[in-house]
Amino acid sequence: MWRSLARRGERDVLHGSFGGMFHSEALPGALPRRQNSPQHPSYGLYPELVSGSAFTVPRAKNRYSWLYRIRPSVQHAPYHGSDYELMAHKTWLSPPFQHPFPPVQLRFTPAPMSSGDFVDGTVTLAANGSPAAQDGCAANAYAMSQSMSSKRRFLRVADADLLILPQEGVLELRTELGDLQVEPWELAVVPRGLAFQVNLGQQASSARGYFLENFGDHFVLPELGPIGISGGLAHARHFLAPQARYEELDGDFELVSKFMGSLYSSRLRHSPLDVVAWYGCHVPCKYDMRLFMAINTVTYDHPDPSIGAVLSSYTTSPGLANVDFVIFPPRWLPAEGTFRPPWFHRNCMSEFMGLLTGTYDAKPDSFLPGAASIHNRYVPHGPDAAAVKKGTELDGMQPERYSGTLAFMWETRLVWHPSRYALASLSEEGYPSAWQSVEKRFDATETPPLQQPYGFPPTR
Ligand SMILES: [Fe+2]
Repeated sequence: MWRSLARRGERDVLHGSFGGMFHSEALPGALPRRQNSPQHPSYGLYPELVSGSAFTVPRAKNRYSWLYRIRPSVQHAPYHGSDYELMAHKTWLSPPFQHPFPPVQLRFTPAPMSSGDFVDGTVTLAANGSPAAQDGCAANAYAMSQSMSSKRRFLRVADADLLILPQEGVLELRTELGDLQVEPWELAVVPRGLAFQVNLGQQASSARGYFLENFGDHFVLPELGPIGISGGLAHARHFLAPQARYEELDGDFELVSKFMGSLYSSRLRHSPLDVVAWYGCHVPCKYDMRLFMAINTVTYDHPDPSIGAVLSSYTTSPGLANVDFVIFPPRWLPAEGTFRPPWFHRNCMSEFMGLLTGTYDAKPDSFLPGAASIHNRYVPHGPDAAAVKKGTELDGMQPERYSGTLAFMWETRLVWHPSRYALASLSEEGYPSAWQSVEKRFDATETPPLQQPYGFPPTR
């Protein structure tokens, strides 16, 4: 067990809990044990607070980290406003968008591979809310063939927490608090305000995936309700944080800042990854989605997709998410006498679907890894004709193993507004016709089987 964990680099990470308090030091004694801001910090480091929440929010929502660094980050920024150059980015876009779009089912092909890095290769597919209002989110794809390190470039996003989902290629995520190797099947969260770098890991020549900018409340593990505390869904202890790691590097670097929806480029004379020790709960983390304990029916019918919620960003209205991150992992489907693919539906919440690997059971033949679909508020959708046929014809008493697949959904209370770029360059125009071949099967002359008032027809 230890060997397999070590092979995946987990000796270099901190085990703790999602949202919990971690501490780490790259030099012995660098982290003050008794206080936050000693008069004479070890090694001549500078203490610096990064808060992720207002000081006075309830303790359970409080997020902050104390960093002990070679230079305060005020020196990792230019002196003048004019030193920030507004970056024109054709595909990394921020809401609010103003262009109209119809209430139609939308599907987008995978984003084209970029010859550049994570910043260059980001494509915003849809978004809602606004970074200024700290509400809503943006759904992006990335397709990169360069490491940010090769451009001596760092990124700091003041608007949003990032939820990164690699689809192809291992990522080396270097952050102020340390490094994380993130591979497909894993997710990473980078909280707002921290400088970081996204590199190609393990000699990958390119990488692609999805990432969400969450402008609203920080992600939390969803409430468990009747599921109980013992281990259902994503478990807090499976989230891993980086170990402190610093570099003392002078030179010419670029900092890309995302602020109020705009990207700015500025020059740095030092690497911002100079944090020698830190403690706190405003930390990057990663999670292996293969560890997700899926809850599902063991009797009949298809539960709501909320049973697959890994992380939620809540609003002040109980149970209403700014955005839920939901997965559809490999699992057994044992439902009795039940149509097992998702049902036809129209929802008040708006759905962004992506596919990380394998096939998605509602669109087994047509939804490709890297693609995305959007079904907005009250836009009807559901299984396509192939899924209807398969779900109707399979033996309704035989369990089925759903393997080698990982689809996900970002479900939001606000409508997903597709970007102009996605509509113009990636849209699959014929997507709504996917349902036109669903057969009409109504037959008023049929004699239905006897329905027992409270019994269950198949076997008992
Ligand atoms: Fe749906």
